[in-house]
Amino acid sequence: MINRDQISNLRKLFVENYQSAPQKDPEFKPADDSSRSVPGQIRGLQQKIASAQNEQKARASLAAAPVRSIAVTSGKGGAGKTNFVANLAIAFSRLGKKVLVLDADLGLANIDVIYGLRPKYNLFHVITGQKRLSEIITEGPCGVKLAPGGSGIVELANINESERNHFLAEMSELEGKVDIILVDTSAGINKNVLCFLKACSEIIFVTLPEPPAIADAYGIIKAVAAQDAGFVQKLYLVVNRAVSVVEAKDVYDRLSLVTRRFLNIAIEDMGYIFEDRVVAAAVKAQSPYILASPNSSASGCIETIARKMLNIGGEKYGAGSASDRLKNGVRSFFHRIGELFN
Ligand SMILES: Nc1ncnc2c1ncn2[C@@H]1O[C@H](COP(=O)(O)OP(=O)(O)OP(=O)(O)O)[C@@H](O)[C@H]1O
Ligand SMILES: [Mg+2]
Repeated sequence: MINRDQISNLRKLFVENYQSAPQKDPEFKPADDSSRSVPGQIRGLQQKIASAQNEQKARASLAAAPVRSIAVTSGKGGAGKTNFVANLAIAFSRLGKKVLVLDADLGLANIDVIYGLRPKYNLFHVITGQKRLSEIITEGPCGVKLAPGGSGIVELANINESERNHFLAEMSELEGKVDIILVDTSAGINKNVLCFLKACSEIIFVTLPEPPAIADAYGIIKAVAAQDAGFVQKLYLVVNRAVSVVEAKDVYDRLSLVTRRFLNIAIEDMGYIFEDRVVAAAVKAQSPYILASPNSSASGCIETIARKMLNIGGEKYGAGSASDRLKNGVRSFFHRIGELFN
């Protein structure tokens, strides 16, 4: 059966090939005489229709690509989550992804400070209907979008049905405009953080190499497992402020051993970020180090992690699993948040 679209494609191709092409392109020459014969022309048209259909299919599958929601958390405060998120978002964006950073950290030195932005409004204003989503989202470096959570993060726990519907309708605006939602959480184990971790399809745990930080990382991984026995999130570990590859690998080995043995949980090794003085300097200058010091060791580490997360050079990570299919869509991400918080 040939449908209406195909008929209009056929007509368009006919017009293009038999009327406009020779005029548009003075160099236009049929490849050989056989294509001038009627069967040759039909074959040519069939091939063009097939390739137009393939392109349509490719576009459709691109449009349906699941949105990845990635939470970044740590057991201990000050592990480097905010700096990591701020720079990773830029690395993702430069690799062609449309990134939304959701700042769900109630603390001070947040993403906006690192980006040198001064957002006036946050999710609170969207939830309470004072602002549209488009009015609170600010644009950071390299096209990264920033949604400041502010007091809206706490407010999520108190929204009523109509506020929730309004909130979700606002979030639908982002559908198709975002490939990755990166969530910067507060440190520690509390209901608020656990809700965000549960709502995301992937979680990156950031730890420092010191034993107390590793113990706290274990604590939050255990809390995630305890609150949701059948959890489907993919879990990754990033060791921050490492002084050597050996040290980072050792931290990963130790932590993944205990999570496997005592929690029956596998964590992927997502790499490390070296201790680097450019990090503090960039915070001071309010210019992310991946831009201010692109050749620094910390920037190199972020690039490596971004590529690994995006599967560049492999098939292991990223979208496509059953859990991703369940959790795709910006709206469904915020829907889960709305449900989990109530
Ligand atoms: N790779 C690094 N090398 C050197 N210093 C770093 C590195 N990563 C982070 N820092 C420093 O660690 C401090 C804490 O970083 P950051 O604010 O990103 O942590 P956080 O986990 O978001 O903290 P909080 O739990 O308070 O939200 C900052 O002063 C930052 O400069
Ligand atoms: Mg922080």
